[in-house]
Amino acid sequence: MGKTLEEIRKEAAEKISSSATVEALDEIRVSILGKKGELTQILKSMKDIAPEERPKVGQMVNEVRAMLEENIEAKKKELNRKLLTEKMKRETIDVTLPGTKLMRGHKHPNQIALEDLEKVFIGMGYEVVEGPEVEFDRYNFELLNIPANHPAKDEQDTFYITKDILLRTQTSSVQARIMEQGKLPIKIISPGRVFRSDEVDATHSPSFHQVEGLVVDKGITMADLKGTLDQFAKNFFGPETKTKLRPHHFPFTEPSAEVDVTCFKCHGKGCSVCKGSGWIEILGCGMVHPHVLEMCGIDPNEYSGFAFGIGLERVALLKYEIDDMRLLYENDIRFLKQF
Ligand code: DAH
Repeated sequence: MGKTLEEIRKEAAEKISSSATVEALDEIRVSILGKKGELTQILKSMKDIAPEERPKVGQMVNEVRAMLEENIEAKKKELNRKLLTEKMKRETIDVTLPGTKLMRGHKHPNQIALEDLEKVFIGMGYEVVEGPEVEFDRYNFELLNIPANHPAKDEQDTFYITKDILLRTQTSSVQARIMEQGKLPIKIISPGRVFRSDEVDATHSPSFHQVEGLVVDKGITMADLKGTLDQFAKNFFGPETKTKLRPHHFPFTEPSAEVDVTCFKCHGKGCSVCKGSGWIEILGCGMVHPHVLEMCGIDPNEYSGFAFGIGLERVALLKYEIDDMRLLYENDIRFLKQF
């Protein structure tokens, strides 16, 4: 026989007490108590021992086994306790240290302007709806009285995906979508991103935002349009703001107009913001063209409506007196956090 039982016990007990990690303890357990472990080997060699000795040897082996198992458990507990203490020491929080300041997010001026604008219209009973940015020619042009080869298509040249699918050039596309659904009356605004193949400069960008408005009901007149936009301008730019309508042309409205507001900076006297005129153009509008109503399945003899389209960047720039649209898109925190 190799080592005696006592030798095995002594050696193992020493190894256990000097082991530094839980993993090392597991290895010891395997090498002594495991299937091929030293103690197990002794049990297997029982057949070489005289039969009358066997119970005694068996008992001794079991005692040693129990003892070593106990040693291992105790050592394991000790090691775990040590680990925990070390970990707690490492993770002690010194509450007297100064904290790390978290950077706080901030709303973009476009978003602030949009939320202000939505508040005004929601207050007047409008619903906010959104439409897709990738749009069919049919909604962006055709149902809005801009058939194939209409010159207005040139003015709003955009990015085509196929011949019939494009990045929308105007949120007016949502008008056609909503009217076509046939639920009347309609009283909505629809904010969103639009695209045109414009060069970037202080007042242009290939991608910008509009807020569309549409009201369709029985007996809607130009007076409703005028009153609504005047109310909007007063709420958005300040109670002393005046509005005026200038005749204009849009294919999908008749009559059409552009709306100017008195310059919020000089209140109409003329300054650099309004380029000396005292007025600033903010939107296009008009009475929904009877042919547009008809194409969208609404009887123009029974219903009428008005629509308007506000350039979001335009009103944001005006409201916050920003003189270059590019600043809105450059993500310069020093600029953005002023609002
Ligand atoms: N969609 C027009 C544009 O992008 C703006 C507009 C004008 C919208 C008149 C309207 C409207 O709803 O009635 O220039």
